[in-house]
Amino acid sequence: MDTSLFSGFYRKTYSERIDLLQQAELIQPEEATQLKEGTLTLPSEVAEHMVENHFSVYSLPMGIAFHFLIDGKQIAVPMATEEPSVIAAVNYAAKIIQQSEGFQTSLSSRRMIGQVALKRIPNMKQAKERILAARNLLLQTANEAHPSIVKRGGGARELEVRFIKEEPSEGTPAFLVVHFFVDTLEAMGANIVNTMMEAVVPLLEELSDGTALMGILSNYATECLATASCRIKPRYLRSGALTGEEVRDRIIEASQFAWADPYRATTNNKGIFNGIDAVVLASGNDWRAIEAGGHAYAAQSGQYRSLSKWSKDSEGFLTGELTLPLPVGTVGGSIGIHPHAQLAREIMGDPDALELESIIISVGLAQNLAALKALVTEGIQRGHMSLQAKSLALAAGATESEVFEVTEKLKQVPHRNLEAVKNILKDLRKTTEEPQ
Ligand code: HMG
Repeated sequence: MDTSLFSGFYRKTYSERIDLLQQAELIQPEEATQLKEGTLTLPSEVAEHMVENHFSVYSLPMGIAFHFLIDGKQIAVPMATEEPSVIAAVNYAAKIIQQSEGFQTSLSSRRMIGQVALKRIPNMKQAKERILAARNLLLQTANEAHPSIVKRGGGARELEVRFIKEEPSEGTPAFLVVHFFVDTLEAMGANIVNTMMEAVVPLLEELSDGTALMGILSNYATECLATASCRIKPRYLRSGALTGEEVRDRIIEASQFAWADPYRATTNNKGIFNGIDAVVLASGNDWRAIEAGGHAYAAQSGQYRSLSKWSKDSEGFLTGELTLPLPVGTVGGSIGIHPHAQLAREIMGDPDALELESIIISVGLAQNLAALKALVTEGIQRGHMSLQAKSLALAAGATESEVFEVTEKLKQVPHRNLEAVKNILKDLRKTTEEPQ
């Protein structure tokens, strides 16, 4: 895919954008028609079966970023988000990274962790020995509870025993926790793992002489890590009067700040999830699971830290790296039934779960670069607020025909907030109502 085709995509009309997506064969002609007619929506009868007490369908804007060169492959990335400037930022940073060498990704094995917590165990050490000795029977029991995943080539592969505390003390009981490592193939696997964990409970109670408290998947998916990295020539980072080297060094300092200070790390990571959540959501995956696992990973050292790291290499290139657990799937949940999740898959070229991880982690790194570059140069408000202006104009009650003029006038005022927009709109309407 030649991404120069999509340069200035955002300046085209809605209809031209859809035509371009169709010409590039990212969407089918019938989807183009549905998009133009506004009929590509989640049908009420499908929504009815997705949640309880269903009464409506909540919609979000879906945009697309083009400049992703990931492991040598050019990919268009659909993103669902309500926040202005996120997609522009991702597109912008991906373009810079593409001009250098693109994104490189590396992925660990895709194994989900299920845990069974046992309590009131008379002899913890003996229980551990008996559980480990019954490893094969336990794995077999787990796999028999979900034969279809085994038939496809996946299943429970290994287990380990952890003590949360060896001896109970007042107010804090001791737990013996058994972790099962499950290959869920293309599925995120929550239901597979939960079924398996509930199935092994009676055997674990017997082996430990204890009582099970629960059996459940862990969203801290440390056996399903994705890493994206990139190297950027400083000249692509130039901004205003600042040289590329100066911007590079400021980005590195910003990264050191986010590593050291949990207050900054939280905002840094929020920016990363601006990008990640939007693709996770567009692809029909569970973004709460990804957020929970990501934040736990950020706190793995005992202090909450930035998930990304920026430094420079021996050639003076800016290097960036982002790692987090990314247990996403390409089957299961709402993926097969939500029309936008299906459209998103098609646009991305029908990736398997590993490829989807690569795309999502790259988007997180791109979003971080765009935000850091803006923060250490012109500040976040110019780019962010100029794009948020349209939402502000609508919130202030501007009609479709007024939005352009309001946002243009907003660029000329120092404080771009709702109050300013309301004043602009009042003046504009006064002028148009005045007799000539
Ligand atoms: P610019 O320099 O004005 O962009 O940046 P440009 O007009 O020179 O365009 C260059 C490229 O940017 C375009 O190339 C596009 O790829 C992209 P093309 O494809 O045309 O060849 N681009 C756009 N793509 C789609 N729609 C657009 C658009 N504009 C440019 N409207 C930009 C403008 C907003 C990109 C820049 O100022 C920026 O990246 N700012 C950062 C914005 C940001 O990070 N927003 C996220 C929300 S803020 C937040 O919540 C997170 C934060 O708190 C996290 C943190 O603290 O770390 C900041």
